[in-house]
Amino acid sequence: MAMTSPNPSDKAPKPLEATQEFFESSTSSSVDGAVLTQSFGEPAAPLAPPPNTSSEPPPRIKISTLGDFRLVAKLGEGGMGTVYKARQISTGKLVAFKVLSQQVALKPGFAERFRREVRILGRLNHPNIVRYLAAGESHGFVYLAMELVDGGSVGTWLTKLGRFSVGDSLYIARACAMALEYAHKEHMVHRDVKPDNLLVTRTGIVKLTDLGLAKTTDDSEVSCTRTGTGIGTPLYAPPEQVRDAKHVDARSDIYSLGGVLYHFLTGQPPFQADHLLQMILLKEKGDYKAASQVNSKVPPALDRILVKMLDRKLENRYQSISLFLDELDRLNWTSESISFLAG
Ligand SMILES: Nc1ncnc2c1ncn2[C@@H]1O[C@H](COP(=O)(O)OP(=O)(O)OP(=O)(O)O)[C@@H](O)[C@H]1O
Ligand SMILES: [Mg+2]
Repeated sequence: MAMTSPNPSDKAPKPLEATQEFFESSTSSSVDGAVLTQSFGEPAAPLAPPPNTSSEPPPRIKISTLGDFRLVAKLGEGGMGTVYKARQISTGKLVAFKVLSQQVALKPGFAERFRREVRILGRLNHPNIVRYLAAGESHGFVYLAMELVDGGSVGTWLTKLGRFSVGDSLYIARACAMALEYAHKEHMVHRDVKPDNLLVTRTGIVKLTDLGLAKTTDDSEVSCTRTGTGIGTPLYAPPEQVRDAKHVDARSDIYSLGGVLYHFLTGQPPFQADHLLQMILLKEKGDYKAASQVNSKVPPALDRILVKMLDRKLENRYQSISLFLDELDRLNWTSESISFLAG
């Protein structure tokens, strides 16, 4: 039994009021270290016992169950928190379970924005969007449960393969565009379209994830640190979003998807810079090598599509993602499945 405090959540500062109807407040859930040997949640402040005057570091506790979910294994980590594979106790189903970092969850106004976004997420239902299942707060941690996608992230595949064939690139971009078309009709802008936010099933279905989540973080944070690499050089976000995250609309997602498609085709993002300011200036100048110059297999017609997606001026881009989809369908170069998943 790894529990070192009878009920640490009683003492823990609560980042959120757990009274809203959609929150499954569950501070009484079981606490043991049987499933995960690693304690999680850096920094662990809300789980720490009350301030102690001794010089001993406060003991860490291990939590394996949050609300209706039992943690099974860690899947990965991102700018907003850690994602686990977890089992929903009431249904026995495996899910992906994102535990938001305290840094994110304790931001002023976060609870309000998160609640609003989660309510919208619950309404979304599209084959190319990761299905949201539940959100809640337990032991001072804010979590989000979603459909588990078993084929890895497109970002991981891209790192592994370097770049994708034209057919695969268009297949994935098309699926992402269909997800965005649906989301935009629901008045949602993704704000953080990137290869790591595209997941694939083993059978080759592409699913866009983290819809709306970028919005739940502080706006200035979204523009300067979260979007893109998370180290201050947003790789895919359009210049207007990098400058001021409040000025985003559907055309911002179109720009990001353009950058992502360019990366698929060439093995590199269109703009690369060491510093945020340098990145902004590059994007505002709109100076990048045509994709066909980097990879001769890219047909010039695709260069023209990318130019339109990556235009620094909103009014010169496709005005809706449906127009991009129309053009892709006219070209008819999209493969019928993802070749790298075969075998
Ligand atoms: N629904 C899911 N199903 C399966 N694995 C997932 C799921 N969501 C996330 N993951 C895994 O967890 C990893 C971390 O995801 P996370 O969203 O936290 O990070 P990120 O996308 O790299 O960054 P960001 O925080 O900016 O979104 C992903 O790369 C993926 O491997
Ligand atoms: Mg993500």
